[in-house]
Amino acid sequence: MDIKQVLSLKGEISVPGDKSISHRAVMFGALSEGTTRIHHFLNGADCLSTIGCFRSMGIDISQEGSEVVVRGKGLYGLTAPSGTLDVGNSGTTIRLISGILSGQTFSSRLTGDASIQRRPMKRILTPLHLMGADISSEFGNDCAPLLIHGKKLKGIHYSSPVASAQVKSCVLLAGLYADQETSVTEPALSRNHSEIMLRYFGADVTSNGLTAAILPEPRLIGREVNVPGDISSAAYFIAAGLLVPGSEILIRNVGINPTRDGFLKVCQAMGGDITLLNVNLDGEPTADLLVRSSSLHGTTVEGALIPTLIDELPMVAVLAAFAEGTTVIRDAAELKVKESDRIAVMTENLSKMGVDIQAADDGMTIHGGRPVHGAVIDSHLDHRVAMSLAVAGLISEGPLTIEGADCVNISYPDFYKDLYSLG
Ligand code: S3P
Repeated sequence: MDIKQVLSLKGEISVPGDKSISHRAVMFGALSEGTTRIHHFLNGADCLSTIGCFRSMGIDISQEGSEVVVRGKGLYGLTAPSGTLDVGNSGTTIRLISGILSGQTFSSRLTGDASIQRRPMKRILTPLHLMGADISSEFGNDCAPLLIHGKKLKGIHYSSPVASAQVKSCVLLAGLYADQETSVTEPALSRNHSEIMLRYFGADVTSNGLTAAILPEPRLIGREVNVPGDISSAAYFIAAGLLVPGSEILIRNVGINPTRDGFLKVCQAMGGDITLLNVNLDGEPTADLLVRSSSLHGTTVEGALIPTLIDELPMVAVLAAFAEGTTVIRDAAELKVKESDRIAVMTENLSKMGVDIQAADDGMTIHGGRPVHGAVIDSHLDHRVAMSLAVAGLISEGPLTIEGADCVNISYPDFYKDLYSLG
C-alpha cells in the first residue's frame, strides 16, 4: 500500500464496531438461552474467528454484514468441537474461550496463526490451574496449541500480576463454571466490557475498584447488543485529523468507556482539539468526536493510563514524532507481547522514516519535530502498526510504502478506503 501526503482531511465517518465488544457479544450470546441480536458487529477477521469457534461447538450464528444473530444454548449447551478450534490471529478469542472451555464436559484443542503461537498463555494457565482446570500447552512452551479437558472448577480469588482484560475475562468466564464466587484483582483497571455485558445478560457480577467478582451458574438470557464504534479504530482518524493541516473530521458513535478513553486524554494533553458531542452514557458510553487540526507538544504516558490506551500506543508514537518536544511512554512492557513486539517494530519503522526514537524495555522515548520522510516499512503483519504508519504517511515527505498492508483486515477491512474518502 502506497500512502502519499494529503492537503487536508474533511468530512464525517463511522468506524466499525468495537472489536472487544463484538467478540464478547458472540461468546456471551452463545452461553445464553434464546436469541442475541448484535448490531454494528465488527466484520473483521478476529471476530469472525470467534464466530467460527462457536459454530464448531454447535451454535447457530447467522450473519449479514454487521448484523449478527446468535441462537444461544445456555451455559451447558456447547457441544464438543469436531476438530481443533482455530482462533486465527485473535488473542481475545483464545484467552477468553480457554476460560469457557475449562468448565465444559468435553475436551478441546485450540490454536491459531504463527503470531498467536508465539504469544504468552502462561498468564491464563496460572489462574486456570489454581481453579483446578486441566489445560496445558501442547509443546510445553506456555504457548498455543492449548489442550483442554473440561471439568468442574473451583472458585478462587486471583491477584493478577498484569492489567489485562483478557486474563480478567478468562478467569471470570471460568468462574461461571466454578463451585463458588470467583474474583480477580488487577494492578490497574483494564477494559471492563466483560463485566458490563455479563451483567446485562443476567450474570451476578460486581466491580469494586480493581476487583471484579462473579457468582457461578447464572441463567444468561440472550439480549440485543448495539456495538459502539471502536475507539481503537477511531484513533487513526483522530490522529489524522489532528496532524493533517486544515482538517476537520466528525467521527460518529464512538465508544468512550472510561477504561478505553486514554487516547483522547493523551491527545488533549498534547494540545489536540477534540470536542465530544451527543454524549450518551447508557450502557457502554458513546459520543461523536469532532477533531480539528492542532499543533501538538510532547507528553508523558505512564501508569494507570496505559491499560486504557494499550492498543493506541503505536498511534501515540506517531503523534509524538510530529509533536514539538519529547514524549515518553513508559510502564508499557505489554507492548512487547501484542500481535508483534510493538516497541521494536515501531522503533524500527519510525527510525527508517527519520524519527528520533529510542526503545526502552517498557516503552519508547520520541523527540518530535524533526522532518519525517516516507520509506518502505514492514507491518510485521500487525494491523495496528500498519494503520498507525499509514497515518504518518499522510504528512511525511515523499511516499510511504507499507509491506504487509492487508493485515488491517484483522480489525478494519475498509481502513484504506475510509481514509481515502476523507482525503
Ligand atoms: C482486549 C484486551 C487487550 C487488548 C486487546 C483486546 C480484550 O489485551 O490489547 O486488543 O478484548 O480483552 P490484554 O488483555 O492482553 O491487555
